[in-house]
Amino acid sequence: MNHDCHEASDEVIARGAEAIIRRGAWHSRPVVTKERISKAYRARELDHRLRGARTRSEALLMAQARRAGVRTPYIFDIDMASCTITMEFLEGITAKAALQDLPNRMELARIIGSRVGRLHRADIVHGDLTTSNIIFRGQEPCFIDFGLGEKSREIEKKGVDLHLLKEGLSSAHSEFMELFDAVACGYVEEYPEGERVLSQVGEIEKRGRYN
Ligand SMILES: Nc1ncnc2c1ncn2[C@@H]1O[C@H](COP(=O)(O)OP(=O)(O)O)[C@@H](O)[C@H]1O
Ligand SMILES: [Mg+2]
Repeated sequence: MNHDCHEASDEVIARGAEAIIRRGAWHSRPVVTKERISKAYRARELDHRLRGARTRSEALLMAQARRAGVRTPYIFDIDMASCTITMEFLEGITAKAALQDLPNRMELARIIGSRVGRLHRADIVHGDLTTSNIIFRGQEPCFIDFGLGEKSREIEKKGVDLHLLKEGLSSAHSEFMELFDAVACGYVEEYPEGERVLSQVGEIEKRGRYN
């Protein structure tokens, strides 16, 4: 039996611009596979190089984030020929749903902020910090989709991360001011220097308004 290839029975759960996400099994474990697909408009060799680099970088950031104290899916396999990461399937609800429905949403928002603080303290920028890329398992937020992430010390990049999170809260949640305050509170608890990042979020917002 070949466990490395996806099987016809594997169910596609998401089809993004860059990757196809499937549910499957790997040595009897429930997994998700993320396969980066070819882009017809890119030259073949460049295409494979880019997909390979992003696959490697995503897997590396997931592992580094975990070392920084942030829950990410365990990686079981990386296949560089098909640019596929096989990872733990995280059963849970997205932060988007959790922050809408659950009575303890302010506490959950604070915990999200604290985990983002851990990422940024370790100079890990997520790159696509939306509430759909955070899955709650109980009280613990798990972060997925590091495909646009990078290691960086730049305040601006960390600010863009928080700004995106804030925008997501404001479009989907009526109590967004309180929710973002809770995020900010957890953030600086873990990352006191993050005060500068929070100020930068203000700058980014001003730029958005006048452009
Ligand atoms: N490890 C996982 N466990 C459970 N669901 C996942 C997992 N990884 C991805 N998903 C689901 O697939 C969707 C797309 O995956 P994601 O990594 O965000 O890809 P994309 O880059 O296309 O956004 C997620 O929003 C989530 O619903
Ligand atoms: Mg995503």
